[in-house]
Amino acid sequence: MAKLRSTFICQNCGAVSQRWQGKCEACGEWNSIVEESLSSGIGAQAARGAGKGRIFPLEGLTGQHKPEPRIVAGIGELDRVTGGGFVPGSVILIGGEPGIGKSTLLIQACAALAHRKHRVVYISGEEAVAQVRLRAERLGLASAPVELAAETSVEDIIATLRQSRTPGLVIIDSIQTMWTDSVDSAPGTVTQVRGSAQALIRYAKTSGAAVILVGHVTKDGQIAGPRVVEHMVDAVISFEGDGGHHFRILRAVKNRFGATDEIGVFEMTGQGLSEVANPSALFLSGRDVTAPGAAVFAGMEGTRPVLVEVQALVAPTSLGTPRRAVVGWDSNRLAMVIAVLEAHAGLRLGQHDIYLNVAGGLRVGEPAADLAAAAALVSSLTGAQLPSDAAFFGEIGLSGAIRPVIHAGLRLKEAAKLGFKSAVAPPLPGDGGETSPIPLRPATHIAGVVADIAAAGVAAKPKG
Ligand code: TYD
Ligand code: MG
Repeated sequence: MAKLRSTFICQNCGAVSQRWQGKCEACGEWNSIVEESLSSGIGAQAARGAGKGRIFPLEGLTGQHKPEPRIVAGIGELDRVTGGGFVPGSVILIGGEPGIGKSTLLIQACAALAHRKHRVVYISGEEAVAQVRLRAERLGLASAPVELAAETSVEDIIATLRQSRTPGLVIIDSIQTMWTDSVDSAPGTVTQVRGSAQALIRYAKTSGAAVILVGHVTKDGQIAGPRVVEHMVDAVISFEGDGGHHFRILRAVKNRFGATDEIGVFEMTGQGLSEVANPSALFLSGRDVTAPGAAVFAGMEGTRPVLVEVQALVAPTSLGTPRRAVVGWDSNRLAMVIAVLEAHAGLRLGQHDIYLNVAGGLRVGEPAADLAAAAALVSSLTGAQLPSDAAFFGEIGLSGAIRPVIHAGLRLKEAAKLGFKSAVAPPLPGDGGETSPIPLRPATHIAGVVADIAAAGVAAKPKG
């Protein structure tokens, strides 16, 4: 039987095929399949090593091992997302689009840790040492005792790191630029990224240094996605935000040592990234409280309540099929909310274009935003302005019933803290366990909420 010498790997999703194709059958991406050599790949290593096994002892769950303290950066928003600091010996992948601020955040974290007497090493595979220095100088961090190098060979990096005292934290910026001798594909390919990540993970586990791998995620998927290393690392953190906004959101996607869904909010300024301790105030700043079509949603991001404005625009359409566009929320949920409004609240939206936007660039994933979205839609359709000091939350069922959501107490407390005077939400559980710090207008069915908004609009008209 002829031996297979190479294989074809999709650089977007990592699917393997036996021949080249224009389109990956697994993920549907075009022109993402690259030929990679099999003779020295990871599979080949396993095949070669197939022989007699080494015998190792098995241990119980309880042991003498005392966990080492976490490495705390002192940047609150970062420590929150990592679950209370970096765990020694762990590997974190930080993914994000190019230019979002990953290098900036990490050099700031390095400086903070260095000032706290940790040994930190920053390996840049993309920028020259002078460029990294220049950025540090611009950020006023040049005095921090961070150790820098511009290197791309994983073997050289590990040999250098092993030579002296084990660092507390090592940054590899970025994993796509690294290459290892053990694999002979080109740098940046899936096999190289995976091989390099494996070597660095082995280094972290054996030395006890925490390692951060930076990974670029591009929309077109041409560069080998860090997706392929996601399952190998201990934590995956994504750094999000869009060019039009200064906010950057750090989000734990996977975390073996802490909660996921936790977010950290930063603002990109001339002096680098600064923490936003009170994101609600930031997301609500500059809102137009007199315009119809805007509702404030009392949401939760991880353990933290965050208030954001949900904006809707409902306008008669000139197209055969009306447009539905949504930014920052799930378009399927918008379709569902529209269907419920039509079926159970008597609204006619079939001849209207509908746009929904979560202000500030935040991406809301919670069904609890249903009620705020519905209120914004009704407000825009009827032209009735919603009370600017009311917060909304609640999940809408297909029957039109409004269902309770978790952490109602925290949401209400945050709303009260920000000066909101009332909330429209499902009633709190009747056992008296939770009380609302602000008047709660209990909403049980969508028809009632729509009627209230329309009535307030009619009442307001003669005055205005
Ligand atoms: P960078 O950290 O290089 O992004 P990444 O490593 O994710 O590719 O950040 C690049 C952007 O950040 C760049 O467009 C300029 C901006 N920036 C600021 O606005 N202020 C600053 O102080 C710094 C250092 C960068
Ligand atoms: Mg960078």
